[in-house]
Amino acid sequence: MFANLLSLLVLGFFAFQPAFTAPTSTALVPRAFTGEATYYDPGLGACGIVNTSSDLIVAVSLTYFNKYPGAGTNPNLNPICGKKIRVTYEGRTVDVAVEDNCPTCAEYDLDLTMTAIKYLVDDPVFVGRLKGVTWEFIDTDGGDGGNTGCGGVAAWTATSVYTAGQKAYYGGYIWTAKWWTQGDIPGSSNAGATVWTQTSTCS
Ligand SMILES: *[C@@H]1O[C@H](CO)[C@@H](O)[C@H](O)[C@H]1NC(C)=O
Repeated sequence: MFANLLSLLVLGFFAFQPAFTAPTSTALVPRAFTGEATYYDPGLGACGIVNTSSDLIVAVSLTYFNKYPGAGTNPNLNPICGKKIRVTYEGRTVDVAVEDNCPTCAEYDLDLTMTAIKYLVDDPVFVGRLKGVTWEFIDTDGGDGGNTGCGGVAAWTATSVYTAGQKAYYGGYIWTAKWWTQGDIPGSSNAGATVWTQTSTCS
């Protein structure tokens, strides 16, 4: 009975399909957001990369991070990692890369580094929270890339073997192996990780 109903529905869907124009993209992802911004001192971020307060990086809310298309159980492989966003406040802008998440932020709030927030206000410590900050993705893949990698480079996996010259996508960056490696997380602090050279940002 259930199977019959299902096949009726499926048939119905196909029967109606010629009436629709094929969509160009299956995922509808909002592109511009409004929230509040503040600053923090980064370290090892959720994307698996160590950044400092002088880097132009940003933490998006944990809520948004986990909702991002392609987000899975390993935050380091979240396709939002390395994506560039443009943040605007009272006519001033800064472009920053997403490298972290912020558990205490409301959905569209941002946590910027001190260097980044100074592009928006002269005295961030005095102002505290910036209200009515808008931001949008400026990456080239539309901000909704799948969790499959970047620009044809597959996501790094702990079980894959990589030999000299082979590339992997991890934490928003493309990495190139210098020699045979397996299980060494690109950019991590373990000794084996020196096998990886960071080649480019995924944009
Ligand atoms: C974040 O840190 C990595 C090194 O850990 C560096 O390569 C990258 O350029 C930094 N990102 C930015 C936007 O400065």
